[in-house]
Amino acid sequence: MSETLITLERVCKLYQVGEENFTALNDVSLEVGNGAFMSFVGPSGSGKTTLLNLIGGLDRPTTGSVLFKGRRLENMSREELAAYRRENIGFIFQTYNLLPVYSVYENVLFPLILNGQKESQVRKRVEEMVAKVGLADQMNKKPAQLSGGQCQRVAIARALVKDPMLILADEPTANLDSENSRQILELMQELNHEYKAAVIFSTHDERVTRYIRREVRLEDGSISWDKRRNGTEIET
Ligand SMILES: Nc1ncnc2c1ncn2[C@@H]1O[C@H](COP(=O)(O)OP(=O)(O)OP(=O)(O)O)[C@@H](O)[C@H]1O
Ligand SMILES: [Mg+2]
Repeated sequence: MSETLITLERVCKLYQVGEENFTALNDVSLEVGNGAFMSFVGPSGSGKTTLLNLIGGLDRPTTGSVLFKGRRLENMSREELAAYRRENIGFIFQTYNLLPVYSVYENVLFPLILNGQKESQVRKRVEEMVAKVGLADQMNKKPAQLSGGQCQRVAIARALVKDPMLILADEPTANLDSENSRQILELMQELNHEYKAAVIFSTHDERVTRYIRREVRLEDGSISWDKRRNGTEIET
């Protein structure tokens, strides 16, 4: 359980803005264990999305390293990094990012097709995943015909269908009301247990934090605290 999945070693991310460099992440070091259920919290602009993007191989640090099960992402070519994302990571975004012309079924099928699988071989798995997130009766609808909470369920099914080691969720409840947020968090908690995928959220949402086992707070691109919950105990 405590085997390390992600290691960040002194990660810095600088963005060039005009003539100036802007430091979005400053010397961030962190380890995330297999099966984690944790979040990055902190004010707007503190670096949460930047950090998720580096872990997910969507972007590279300016200095420092990101390791996935001991493999350094900086040594991967663009193609290897793309394969790393496809094979190991499920992404969930604030705005769902579903493909609007595809049905619920097709949106969840899509990552498996990208991984080179045939529809006939995975149809059952896709249907089961859609059922798992409570949308068995909405299988043929398009995203525009669904509520926000239902869209986020499709995004969760799409992220989990390829059985990833890690789910990265950038403010997954930001566009949802309290009841939908609660349901989405409970669903993710259940799927974290059942599928053993580690989940890292970013969130501003106080309602989210009671569900998570570890909370890492960022301020101005640095970690200001790292708390673990053991039942109701909080260890700093
Ligand atoms: N492409 C970019 N070019 C320049 N600066 C950027 C770029 N992307 C992000 N930043 C800056 O880096 C900092 C961190 O941004 P980031 O998106 O990671 O914050 P965040 O914690 O996710 O904020 P929010 O809670 O609003 O989503 C911000 O000050 C932002 O303006
Ligand atoms: Mg963000």
